[in-house]
Amino acid sequence: MARVAILGATGYTALELLKILARHPQAEVVAATTRQDSRLHISSIHPSLTGLFNLRCENLSPEQAGKMCDIAFCCLPHTASMEAVPQLLDAGCRVVDLSADYRLKDPGVYETWYEHVHTDPTRLSTTVYGLPEIYADKIPAAELVANPGCYTSTSILALAPLLAAKVIEPTGIIIDAKSGISGAGRTPKLSNLFSECNESVTAYSIGKHRHTPEIEQVLGDVGGSEVQVAFNPHLMPMDRGIFCSIYPRLIGQHTQAELLSIFRSFYAGQPFIRVVDHIPTTKDVSYTNFCDITVRFNRDQLVIFAAIDNLIKGASGVAVQNMNLMLGLDQRMGMLSC
Ligand SMILES: NC(=O)c1ccc[n+]([C@@H]2O[C@H](COP(=O)([O-])OP(=O)(O)OC[C@H]3O[C@@H](n4cnc5c(N)ncnc54)[C@H](OP(=O)(O)O)[C@@H]3O)[C@@H](O)[C@H]2O)c1
Repeated sequence: MARVAILGATGYTALELLKILARHPQAEVVAATTRQDSRLHISSIHPSLTGLFNLRCENLSPEQAGKMCDIAFCCLPHTASMEAVPQLLDAGCRVVDLSADYRLKDPGVYETWYEHVHTDPTRLSTTVYGLPEIYADKIPAAELVANPGCYTSTSILALAPLLAAKVIEPTGIIIDAKSGISGAGRTPKLSNLFSECNESVTAYSIGKHRHTPEIEQVLGDVGGSEVQVAFNPHLMPMDRGIFCSIYPRLIGQHTQAELLSIFRSFYAGQPFIRVVDHIPTTKDVSYTNFCDITVRFNRDQLVIFAAIDNLIKGASGVAVQNMNLMLGLDQRMGMLSC
């Protein structure tokens, strides 16, 4: 039985993590941290967990939490994670970090996009990027796994097979991405108030969204050459879900059936990728660890469609997939199949 600590346990990704771990037969949550001193029971912070855990949220230091567990999930904002992760690793546990702090290999790129100097830069080159469908061979031995971003996972999973097969151009890719409000976390922000975003759709962070370099880094690795994407995120008036419509430039002539067959070969044996014939919806993947993908032609333009649940396949589901691989377990353990 693996002992698990969750840092930042009052947030949304932590809640989804706790729900998955409540039904995980090989993991026991031994610590849940907060900056608050009230030692509240986890079910008073997350009422949906009532009756599932005998656990209080405590103001533990990363060092204290790290000493109590075999594996720690860092559900903290970026910049807070890079302070906690070195202390957790020094305390002797392994770490899955859900923040963006360890996803980019180059500290200069991190500084440019996150406008913050990285305080643990030497660890970046050795951290394993936690997208199991691409890096399953590296995750089992990793001490630190950088869990991917939610937009990032959707975009990478939708593009990787065609880039690897070299049937699309690595540049000039347009990603039209849409996210539910929970993608911004539970920490209150004016722009995420119900009255600000209900019955409204808008684009944001055009040309400067921080998932851009992450998508380009991983897809460059997969395709073997530099990738450039125009990533356009939109905020949707819904709780959860990510939907991407992606417009790459095709190299040569390929039918829809041929392209779907490339996807099916690439993801053969992957339990959480469904290459479907219908156009995916966020509802069909809600509360699951699935990523649904398909392709269509609109006149001569290839369009790839992909959907995930941002809090599960985009965060806590893939985090448990990573933990399972790190512990030598079946990556499906604890996950709901529908
Ligand atoms: N939401 C998503 O869909 C999603 C998807 C993929 C990745 N992520 C990433 O996962 C991480 C957690 O996201 P989330 O949505 O769970 O965020 P969240 O709901 O805002 O929760 C983050 C928690 O971290 C704690 N915290 C906040 N600021 C802190 C600080 N400066 N130092 C220490 N603790 C701090 C807070 O707990 P206390 O106030 O109780 O201390 C808060 O509840 C983020 O890095 C996010 O970018 C989120």
